[in-house]
Amino acid sequence: MKHLIAPSLLSANFANLEGDINMLNKSEADWFHLDVMDGVFVPNISFGIPVIKAIKKLADKPLDVHLMIVQPERYISAFKAAGADILTIHMEASTHLHRSIAEIKTEGMKAGVVLNPHTPISTLTDIISDLDMVLLMSVNPGFGGQKFIENTYRKISRLKDLIIKSDANTLIEIDGGVNLNNAPKLIETGADVLVAGNTIFSSENPSQTIKTLKDL
Ligand code: DX5
Ligand code: ZN
Repeated sequence: MKHLIAPSLLSANFANLEGDINMLNKSEADWFHLDVMDGVFVPNISFGIPVIKAIKKLADKPLDVHLMIVQPERYISAFKAAGADILTIHMEASTHLHRSIAEIKTEGMKAGVVLNPHTPISTLTDIISDLDMVLLMSVNPGFGGQKFIENTYRKISRLKDLIIKSDANTLIEIDGGVNLNNAPKLIETGADVLVAGNTIFSSENPSQTIKTLKDL
């Protein structure tokens, strides 16, 4: 499968979101990656349901919603109603992960689990067959523009092995510090979806940067 590019709107211009959304609509981006932070699970607050609803009206690509919130199970139907197509919840924030994944699917969304940098791939052994996607954090979540953690490559290889052994169809998404230098090796190691915020939005020509990432 050709890899997908999911620009993170965390680095977009919040004073002109419509402009950035139109740019993404016209670009080769595959999904919109939306980072929801609650100031409890991560030490930052971003945006929530009303902003996602507004984005949904303008975006013509799937919304990939990354929840960095405690007790994400409380908001599954609310994010569906807001327009999420893919909903990812953190392993570290979910006591009853199996139930929450089933609920996300029942709502008609694709379901994913996110692992923080310290959380081992082995925690996925008994849930991998139920997952449409695993998102590996390649920075500690909370902020855009951080430095990529090199151990991510080893985690991708281990995850790929687990997916193959389990005969699963799970996509591997990488989030944090993705740039033009590390993206080729991430794809080669097995990443299916690359999230990029700072690399895209701080570049001179964001839609060209998306194309460059897509053409790798
Ligand atoms: C971090 C978020 C990321 C972030 C990526 O907590 O989950 O999606 O926006 O930003 P960059 O690509 O700038 O590291
Ligand atoms: Zn994210």
